Amino acid sequence: IVSHLSDARPKVVICRHLGPAMPLLQDRKDIEVVLWPEDRSCERSWLLDNIRGAAGVLVLLGDKVNEELLEAAGPNLRVVSTMSVGYEHIDLPLMARRKIRVGYTPDVLTEADLSVMLALMAGRNDGAAYSLVRNGDWAKPKFAWSPFTFCGPQLSATPSSPTRTVGFLGFGRIAQATLARLIPFGITHCLYAGSPSSRPDTARDAALQATHKLKVLERVDADRLARESDVLFVLTPGGTETYHLVDAAFLRKMKPMSVLINTSRGSVVDSDALATALREKWIWGAGLDVVEGEPLITEDHPLVKEPQCVMVPHIGSATFQTRLDMATRAINNLYGGLFGEDMPAELGR
Ligand code: DGY
Repeated sequence: IVSHLSDARPKVVICRHLGPAMPLLQDRKDIEVVLWPEDRSCERSWLLDNIRGAAGVLVLLGDKVNEELLEAAGPNLRVVSTMSVGYEHIDLPLMARRKIRVGYTPDVLTEADLSVMLALMAGRNDGAAYSLVRNGDWAKPKFAWSPFTFCGPQLSATPSSPTRTVGFLGFGRIAQATLARLIPFGITHCLYAGSPSSRPDTARDAALQATHKLKVLERVDADRLARESDVLFVLTPGGTETYHLVDAAFLRKMKPMSVLINTSRGSVVDSDALATALREKWIWGAGLDVVEGEPLITEDHPLVKEPQCVMVPHIGSATFQTRLDMATRAINNLYGGLFGEDMPAELGR
């Protein structure tokens, strides 16, 4: 940890206006703030020009923190703070080698809320049903109320279907928060497959099972997870370790009435395989907040064209409260790294 500052007024580069959190930066007299001036993603060339000599940088998901950026910054750079819980845009081994501290924003996100929303929407055909209303087609006789039009699998337990199994690929904080939100739906079984590098935690699992009064809470392999889940949530970090864990082979094992939700990273799910799975009815539906190649997703993307796929543009953390918490935490992380103090959330510590 840096305990002594060589530069009296360290320069920090901020890659996006942070709205109501900006006074936390602009009111400080002991730093020089260089702010990307436009209301769109920070241009790489601007960042490379402006980071020269900076001691800290506050980035978003789209700003790659790699060798090129560190070269442009020079030797003063001592902290990178990302306003995100995900960090695959940051070359962590490189940061470790250069002894640059990295802050991120766990614990304040609302992906769990959005995951439940997407599970309900995808099961109940809300993508297609909502488009129908928007297109003015509700008035057509074939869409008048009828016994089984627009039916889908029910998320909650019912007398005729008393066992409901939720599955989680990745079982960290957000997955556990999602499980807690699902308990009132009468969920009876929870299966999960940990990230490849995570370890079993039987004491935690026993406690969770007791708290939620679940019949089953079990760590299983990917094969069982795919075969037995009624609703499967992908909540594992992105990166090479989890790339395309959900591929054609995985999707083929899922139940025909099951629903797949991805609110973590697009790279975990093979988009082409998912489009085929929906088209050929291997699974019932999908709810996606993240997609490979985002944000370059247009109306001719195979998943956008699938009526049983509900897609929203990476809005998992998009509430005023959460974004303000994330921005505040990112700024405080930046200060921790700048002034050699603790960070509220530091990676690798
Ligand atoms: C993150 O912080 O990594 C989220 O994906 C943003 O919603």
